[in-house]
Amino acid sequence: MSTDHSAQTCWIQGENGQERVNGPLILDAGQIIIIVTNIPPPPVRMKAEEGLNFPTYDGKDRVVSLSEKNFKQILKKYDVLCLYYHEPVSSDKVSQKQFQLKEIVLELVAQILEHKDIGFVMVDSKKEARLAKKLGFNEEGSLYILKGDRTIEFDGEFAADVLVEFLLDLIEDPVEIINTKLEVQAFERIEDQTKLIGFFKSEDSEYYKAFEEASEHFQPYIKFFATFDKGVAKKLSLKINEVDFYEPFMDEPIAIPDKPYTEEEIVEFVKEHQRPTLRRLRPEDMFETWEDDINGIHIVAFAEKSDPDGYEFLEILKQVARDNTDNPDLSILWIDPDDFPLLIAYWEKTFKIDLFRPQIGVVNVTDADSVWMDIPDDDDLPTAEELEDWIEDVLSGKINTEDDDNGDEDDDDDDNDDDDNDNSDEEDNDDSDDEDE
Ligand SMILES: *[C@@H]1O[C@H](CO)[C@@H](O)[C@H](O)[C@H]1NC(C)=O
Repeated sequence: MSTDHSAQTCWIQGENGQERVNGPLILDAGQIIIIVTNIPPPPVRMKAEEGLNFPTYDGKDRVVSLSEKNFKQILKKYDVLCLYYHEPVSSDKVSQKQFQLKEIVLELVAQILEHKDIGFVMVDSKKEARLAKKLGFNEEGSLYILKGDRTIEFDGEFAADVLVEFLLDLIEDPVEIINTKLEVQAFERIEDQTKLIGFFKSEDSEYYKAFEEASEHFQPYIKFFATFDKGVAKKLSLKINEVDFYEPFMDEPIAIPDKPYTEEEIVEFVKEHQRPTLRRLRPEDMFETWEDDINGIHIVAFAEKSDPDGYEFLEILKQVARDNTDNPDLSILWIDPDDFPLLIAYWEKTFKIDLFRPQIGVVNVTDADSVWMDIPDDDDLPTAEELEDWIEDVLSGKINTEDDDNGDEDDDDDDNDDDDNDNSDEEDNDDSDDEDE
């Protein structure tokens, strides 16, 4: 397709350069008219070559409001239905804008996935209270996805790119088939996610079918693979109808005992082993992971994988995780700041740490109070043994977020405005309580 360079074009020369005229001609003082015929536009604003056109919202309404009246019809129309369950939009300007922003994200996602047979709807928690109850929705501001007879709660970052990836993963086949040695290599390279692989006679095997059904319970969060190839099975030391479970960052899998399995047995095993010793925080399920704290705290490690110090620190963490994989009380949460650019400033301020360096600490999820291991020099990172000692002190309560709380108060004397509103009930902000009572 050629662009319309040959059309007659009208340009206005003003003090801000040249401008193309699209509407009626109205001149301001100091402007002159240049009429250009059959000549391409000047290179002032050359159009980029095609191939990288980010979608922009086209303004069309695709996200509809769900009601009891249109519910059945909409449900029938789509394979996958994405529902944003929200509180009534208030008259307050800020919350209106926040709501609109979410709506635009959903509209953009709906536009991008238009050809994928996914429906997008809004459910007003007050107007549609009965319907919401029927659907089992309970948390306003949540995004639920209905697929077949499953309801999946999206508990990740509400951003268009994260949502699109999540939904694309959800509509793919839940089991990926491994056929070749190269695919085995690709499979083995996946180290930061929980994955399972099973060896079955064929796609028609009843045990494969049970495996496939089980995979749907965890899609898209946990990856399920299967092979029907003897060579591949041998390379992975899989016996027929056996399923191996790989915890993230562990070299050796665990074979699920007592093969062959029913769907329920696989589901139960995965649920029981789901919380790994070392896990990566991911945008697509970050809130769910954060809610899965252990006794109110998380052991959090920040390490940028693409940075040499961060990489080294991560390797040490993996070592610690492998040495302690049998400890059910230990689950280290690794955060690569590169995955969460929008949160870096917030974390640095809240935790009072420098995220350009590797860090490990304990965070209380109730008030975000934290203590961090003293790593004076990032060229001299703690060894696996030193880390294990530190972790032991955390698990035994010797290192905790509460001990320093009294001494804490004298170093935040002048910042009474920020999110330090934990339990600092001292009355030093006498300038802000004039409209309270
Ligand atoms: C976390 O903080 C809350 C509120 O300050 C406190 O009550 C709780 O004991 C703390 N939990 C731990 C494990 O330190």
